[in-house]
Amino acid sequence: MDEPFFVIKVMKRIHYISGLTITIFVVLHLCNHAVSLVGVESHIAFMDKLRLVYRNPIVETLLLGVVLVQIISGLKLAIMQKGLAVGFYKKIQIWSGLYIAMFLLIHVGAVLMGRYILQLDTNFYFGAIGLNTFPFNLFFIPYYGLAIVAFFGHVSAIHFHKMRSTILGVSVEQQSRIIFLIGVVVAIVILYGMTNGFNGVEIPEEYNIMIGG
Ligand code: HEM
Repeated sequence: MDEPFFVIKVMKRIHYISGLTITIFVVLHLCNHAVSLVGVESHIAFMDKLRLVYRNPIVETLLLGVVLVQIISGLKLAIMQKGLAVGFYKKIQIWSGLYIAMFLLIHVGAVLMGRYILQLDTNFYFGAIGLNTFPFNLFFIPYYGLAIVAFFGHVSAIHFHKMRSTILGVSVEQQSRIIFLIGVVVAIVILYGMTNGFNGVEIPEEYNIMIGG
């Protein structure tokens, strides 16, 4: 087998396994944010439960390591397959992947900085302050919204390339479109919940440091 093809194959396998691992966290993480529809207390209570698992030093080190592997292998794959992105879903896969890579770098970097440098509890309020303060929300609403849509877009593209069979008469292409649409709905639900129906949430003063206050 040609060396580059072998390298691409191994890289794809690594990217696939790290992707599946991250997906478990992201699905729980997004469920956590969706709980904000019920209220801030419920969101924080659910996060406290999840943190018992992902804040475990071994689990968190593994998660952060896997995030790094995902970003590096994804960028390498995008570069190695440059010019091979033929077809709508291949393009969706590459562009959503590039956005997720950039988002993860900034997002995880911000969370770690918030925790270790600003000494903040990076809970609901840490995620919500930018979404609830004008003009920062002009950046944060599309920034978070696109991240959720990109995540589902990436999954829908993988589904399109891997899935072979129709389900109850629904074609693979339609299944992929449904996954993408679910992403759009999830993004709207989460943004609605975290902004109290776009009416704004009161944020404790210590988080003002995030918006230069
Ligand atoms: C509205 C959308 C989102 C908001 C408001 C948000 C907010 C947060 C917050 C507040 C934390 C800190 C959690 C903690 O301290 O326990 C966090 C961590 C994290 N988020 Fe998000 N997030 C969002 C979407 C996403 C998406 C789409 C991804 C992945 C594609 C993601 C990946 C991560 C990762 C990897 C961590 C680090 C977990 C750790 O502490 O080890 N987030 N996020």
